[in-house]
Amino acid sequence: MCNSSNENIRKFQKVCEILEFYDYDKSKLIPILQAVQDEYRYLPEEIMVLIASSLDISPAKVYGVATFFSHFALEPKGKYVIKVCDGTACHVKNSEPIIKEIRLQLNLTPEKPTTPDMMFTLETVSCLGACGLAPVVVINEVVHSLMTPKKIAKEINKIMESEVEYA
Ligand code: FES
Repeated sequence: MCNSSNENIRKFQKVCEILEFYDYDKSKLIPILQAVQDEYRYLPEEIMVLIASSLDISPAKVYGVATFFSHFALEPKGKYVIKVCDGTACHVKNSEPIIKEIRLQLNLTPEKPTTPDMMFTLETVSCLGACGLAPVVVINEVVHSLMTPKKIAKEINKIMESEVEYA
């Protein structure tokens, strides 16, 4: 439980605040996981275990919910998540070269979608519901329409430059 004095638990102060905010209500498991993911950018295993014991449910139940919704991430993601739509409309309008360009720029592969510095994660998604703007790329919450390999390279550079500036 969160009121334990255990060292490990103190490390997860933010989770405890979230659990308290939701009044340790097990029926609020999804919003709790959502809030935890917003905080940590993914759902670390030890945090899922802590949530389970705090809500008095099994870790398997928490894990089951986390894996059921594709929105939840069980692996750490980069600070910038680049989602390239590869639905039919975007694919036809050349989303593939955009994906290739990103992989080239960031030295990523399908097996290694996150940069070692945890700055970028590349994901391909199916139709984002904005086919008229195809090909579409979403960087964090920002939608970029009519994307090209050149434009995405520029966006990545812009992010890298801003990160250097604020480093
Ligand atoms: S296929 Fe990409 S937005 Fe619909």
